[in-house]
Amino acid sequence: MTARRILVTSALPYANGHIHLGHLVEYIQTDIWVRFQKARGNRCIYLCADDTHGTAIMIRARQEGRSEEALISAMRESHLQDFGGFDIGFDNYGSTHSSQTRQFCHEIWKSLRAAGLIVEHDVTQLFDPVQNTFLADRFVKGTCPKCGSADQYGDNCEKCGSTYTPADLINPVSTLSGATPELRTAKHLFVEIERLHDWLTEWTQSGGHLQEEVANYLKGHFLVEPLRNWDVSRPAPYFGFEIPDSPGNYWYVWFDAPIGYIGSTAEWCERHGESIDDWWKSSSTEIHHFIGKDITYFHTLFWPAMLKTAGLTLPEKVHIHGFLTVDGEKMSKSRGTFVQAATYLKHLDPSYLRYYYASKLGSRLDDLDLNVEEFVNKVNSDLVGKVVNLASRTARFIESVGLSAEYPQDGGLFAAAAGQSEAIAAAYEACDYNGAMRIVMSLADRANQYVEQTAPWTLKKDPAKAAELQAACSVTLNLFRQIVIYLSPVLPRLAKQVGELLQKPITHWDEAQTPLVGTRVSKFEHLMKRVELAQVQAMIEEGKQPSPEATPATEPAAAAPASPWNDGPEALAHEPLVAEYCTIDDFTKVDLRVARVLAANAVVGADKLLQLTLSMGGEGTRNVFAGIKSAYNPEDLVGRLVIFCANLAPRKMKFGVSEGMVMAAGVGGQEVYLLSPDSGAKPGQRVH
Ligand code: 2FM
Ligand code: ZN
Repeated sequence: MTARRILVTSALPYANGHIHLGHLVEYIQTDIWVRFQKARGNRCIYLCADDTHGTAIMIRARQEGRSEEALISAMRESHLQDFGGFDIGFDNYGSTHSSQTRQFCHEIWKSLRAAGLIVEHDVTQLFDPVQNTFLADRFVKGTCPKCGSADQYGDNCEKCGSTYTPADLINPVSTLSGATPELRTAKHLFVEIERLHDWLTEWTQSGGHLQEEVANYLKGHFLVEPLRNWDVSRPAPYFGFEIPDSPGNYWYVWFDAPIGYIGSTAEWCERHGESIDDWWKSSSTEIHHFIGKDITYFHTLFWPAMLKTAGLTLPEKVHIHGFLTVDGEKMSKSRGTFVQAATYLKHLDPSYLRYYYASKLGSRLDDLDLNVEEFVNKVNSDLVGKVVNLASRTARFIESVGLSAEYPQDGGLFAAAAGQSEAIAAAYEACDYNGAMRIVMSLADRANQYVEQTAPWTLKKDPAKAAELQAACSVTLNLFRQIVIYLSPVLPRLAKQVGELLQKPITHWDEAQTPLVGTRVSKFEHLMKRVELAQVQAMIEEGKQPSPEATPATEPAAAAPASPWNDGPEALAHEPLVAEYCTIDDFTKVDLRVARVLAANAVVGADKLLQLTLSMGGEGTRNVFAGIKSAYNPEDLVGRLVIFCANLAPRKMKFGVSEGMVMAAGVGGQEVYLLSPDSGAKPGQRVH
């Protein structure tokens, strides 16, 4: 079989927060896959980098009184330390703030320009006059325009669940400086991704590049309507790369983040005398991206569109996983379950987590729950009880004689386990690590039955049974080694130790086909300790302590569904992949009516509100305050029909009582479009 050439990436972690157990689901998942491919003899490289650009980094550097470069360099060290601690074996760990990434940004940009896909529009956004920067939604807080709750984020209200734009907030405040933001307009550059709609439909729906549920989700949610232009620029000041043909504008962090995959490959190529074209412009290279479900849109629509336009190799597969929960809940700082990698490493062995995650990871997008008791039980019963015990119950007995010169009769056990090789490999290949672990643990069960039956500890007592003892231990240690080979992508440390114990390094998957004979056995040293619940509890206690990184920008615990158009480091984006359905009964509770605007007036003391008097055709009128002033002149509204929610509970506001809500579409605070019925509809008619 010819070796495949495989390029693998994990999502680039932001340089404004430390690595935590949630991140590690992905890095462990990817690292296992890469180690598996390497063990199978494939040519595989694993690339990653720090994602370093954007407002969040710029502001944090300002707050810490150092340069962005100093900040990202310190964070890089910390990330590398954490990844090393969990045996994540990158072949190159780059940075998006590198000359290589910059060069590929230029190249891809040139292609997008040449294809005529870049357009310019003015964008009006809130601006912090003190920090001198435009504000993404999550950097604005204020009073919810719908329910009046104070201290709500710029895009949605945690109290009433309504979504809105930051410009709608009452008394908005910049969380960066406490200043009152102003509306300002600037030119932005957009990619007209809609022009690749047909091609993206084709690419996402065929060729097996995506898990089926992802392909269906895209088809049902995004590809059913025109794709919105993608805003890829930010005006200065911004920490990033300046756009060469648009001075004063910078590429938005999400433009250069995936290009960091190529930049990191280029660094690796420079070190190894390889050509980047062999990896990114070659039909014989398979590119595999591993990502979390929150960044699906970027990797399945924007990124393929960029690659396609630039004539670069498209991903063979984008592997998407779910989020981590701990004991069934989102990770939480207050419960101590928002555990940083470094905190974990102070208390527990990284191999425990690697095995535990492997035993729970499948090829679908389900969230992965870290259940503390299950974690302790699995580690103790599977790793220590079933696997490591095979060696600790036998290795010492044959330290002096070594493994038998010929592999003894074992009743077909070794051959049977060798026969499982391809089934286990297929499970790894499909990212069904849970399936792989189940097969391996069933092999460990059989090996343990063998040890129980042959009872080397009894044989040891009788000098006349020395040959039998050596045979029983040689079989057991071979079954053990075979299991460790199958587990080596998950437990590289154990594989290394076993290589030393049996004086033959484990290097290739196929070594599970042939028993080891005649080697010496090193002095036995503990391979893995049992884990105690108290250790896990101590880690959780430490996780509760305040730390300077208490709220990294990507903390899922604080996440609210955000617009997939707008996520990235500047938003808390954990859009559920499958939107929650409402029943027809839920829907009909909402009494939507056609209404006519009888009067519309500005509201003294409210920048964003208009006061509307609405008629539903009958006697009375309704008074409504609507956050639509930025888009409509009051006089243009008088006489027009709108769609109105008639049974929203009346709400007392500073300016009076609002008795309902008019419906509008809009995005990002800059756009408001009132809904109206087709001509012929009458005030008072219900909308079904
Ligand atoms: O979501 C994140 O954490 C991003 N930093 C991932 C970037 S992945 C890639 F596009 F670079
Ligand atoms: Zn609210």
